[in-house]
Amino acid sequence: MDDVVFARVLHVLGVVLWIGGVAMVTWVLLPSLARMESATDAMAFFTRFRQRFAAQARMTTLLVGLSGFYMVHALNAWSRFLQWQYWWMHAMVLIWLLFSVMLFVMEPRARRQVAAVAASKQISSDAFVKIQRKHLMLLVLSLMTIAGAVAGSHGWLIAAN
Ligand code: HEM
Repeated sequence: MDDVVFARVLHVLGVVLWIGGVAMVTWVLLPSLARMESATDAMAFFTRFRQRFAAQARMTTLLVGLSGFYMVHALNAWSRFLQWQYWWMHAMVLIWLLFSVMLFVMEPRARRQVAAVAASKQISSDAFVKIQRKHLMLLVLSLMTIAGAVAGSHGWLIAAN
């Protein structure tokens, strides 16, 4: 059982670093960049920042996924995916898949495109409003998942009938 506790410790540490970073980007960094005078300079800064954050987020995403699937295996909890009371299990995997696609497929592609666009034309300031909206949506989904996972894994489940 100690191995499950250890996996849980790694899982939660990964979630804190990863989703905590998303919260900081959404509520602190993006609003500050949107208020900068030059949207082109702000985008250049954001591109460098995102590159570093994405590298860290890739590691934490891997850690969360590995520890998560290890726990599913060790707790023999695969059947939960067939029970809607465990909606937070589906939500965890969904969030993880969404971020994995973004970090491993879309982010490297977007970085190349933004660099090309930034070199050729001016960036409009509502670019940040759009980016912030997307981050906020992912953050709200992640926070709901975290709340559901903590409540559910400590026994607070919706009654099955
Ligand atoms: C591949 C993806 C994932 C898998 C397979 C997975 C699996 C698990 C499992 C098996 C547990 C333990 C449940 C129990 O003790 O009954 C757990 C707990 C938890 N997971 Fe995940 N998870 C994944 C991704 C995520 C993500 C993306 C988040 C955050 C958005 C997250 C947040 C949590 C939290 C907060 C707990 C509760 C820890 C506690 O209070 O003890 N997980 N996860």
